[in-house]
Amino acid sequence: MAAGATAGTWLLVLSLWGAVVGSQNITARIGEPLVLNCKGAPKKPPQQLEWKLNTGRTEAWKILSPQGSPWDSVARVLPNGSLLLPAIGIQDEGTFRCRATNRHGKETKSNYRVRVYQIPGKPEIIDPASELMAGVPNKVGTCVSEGSYPEGTLSWHLDGKPLIPDGKGVSVKEQIRRNPETGLFTLQSELMVTPARGGNAHPTFSCSFSPGIPRRRALNTAPIQPSVWEPVPLEEVRLVVEPEGGAVVRGGTVTLTCEAPAQPPPQIHWVKDGMPLPLPPSPILLLPEVGPQDQGTYSCVATHPSHGSQESPAISISITETGEEGPTTGSVGGSGLGTLALALGILGGLGITALLIGIIMWRRRRRQGEERKAPENQEEEEERAELNQSEEPEAAESGTGGS
Ligand SMILES: *[C@@H]1O[C@H](CO)[C@@H](O)[C@H](O)[C@H]1NC(C)=O
Ligand SMILES: *[C@@H]1O[C@H](CO)[C@@H](O)[C@H](O)[C@H]1NC(C)=O
Repeated sequence: MAAGATAGTWLLVLSLWGAVVGSQNITARIGEPLVLNCKGAPKKPPQQLEWKLNTGRTEAWKILSPQGSPWDSVARVLPNGSLLLPAIGIQDEGTFRCRATNRHGKETKSNYRVRVYQIPGKPEIIDPASELMAGVPNKVGTCVSEGSYPEGTLSWHLDGKPLIPDGKGVSVKEQIRRNPETGLFTLQSELMVTPARGGNAHPTFSCSFSPGIPRRRALNTAPIQPSVWEPVPLEEVRLVVEPEGGAVVRGGTVTLTCEAPAQPPPQIHWVKDGMPLPLPPSPILLLPEVGPQDQGTYSCVATHPSHGSQESPAISISITETGEEGPTTGSVGGSGLGTLALALGILGGLGITALLIGIIMWRRRRRQGEERKAPENQEEEEERAELNQSEEPEAAESGTGGS
């Protein structure tokens, strides 16, 4: 009885001791071998020990003993009583227990919680921005980490300090995907920031992957250093024409320069007579060997990624004939009107002359015709009079009565 009571007390103490020791947390890298020691077991057979494991591969507790056969290629008990998993996988995460009795009959329990991990490749920032605009949200880049287990997290740093997404100046769009075959994770984190106006013109961004298991170092991306541009109001879009005034001799060259001093430089498109010109964007429009088809009103449109578009005031281009002095004033419209008036004047003069000549000719021909016709007419009238009198007296009467 006393011996039994003693043994019972010992068991209680041992189990309490076991409870106090608790489970040991083990982390093992996926694909590598793992050896778990069975504490208290004799170094060599014969041993009295038993391994019990409950993992992603087992339905309930799986029992392995030194005498039993190995569990496929998953696990086996080594001659010294330790358990070997030759290549550990995600499915081997779980609880491993060993109960061993030494030569003196003392029982020892080992309890392990096994977690596996995989270190991803070095994270990278894809599509890094080279330029950011102060005061508006900009996409800085997308941080990608491939092949982690467990997921871990991605975080961004600005000038060495963590960037906390606040949904206003800093926002992050995250995506986690899992490879169905390997079970490994791919993380993506897209960073949007609104740089403060007048802030750091060359901020340094970096991204780091923090593993989901303790005591593992974070992995950092190479930093990126975009330039921050201060927005410049776009009402400063100016159009400069060379030659000044926009009047050019036929066959000469006109250079139109669009000045839109925003940074980064906006895209410049050209408009002629209200219609966009189908040209690649360029701040300079060169019109060589100008002809009448080049006359018209030109303006440039500066399009800015964050400001929208702004059109310059328009400038008129007119062609003067060779040797003709261009108007001294810058008013190209005036010159055009002058030319038009002159042309109209000449045309009008010619027209009036032609009309006068026409009238004179017509009148002269008509007079000649009348002179020639006159005798005939007299004869006809005499004949008609005779006829009227002889054959149509009523008509003649009515005729006279009417007059
Ligand atoms: C083992 O990990 C669990 C959570 O996973 C934790 O609560 C426990 O404190 C850890 N034990 C040791 C000994 O680190
Ligand atoms: C048992 O053997 C394995 C492989 O030889 C070794 O890694 C392990 O440390 C040994 N365990 C003990 C408790 O000696």
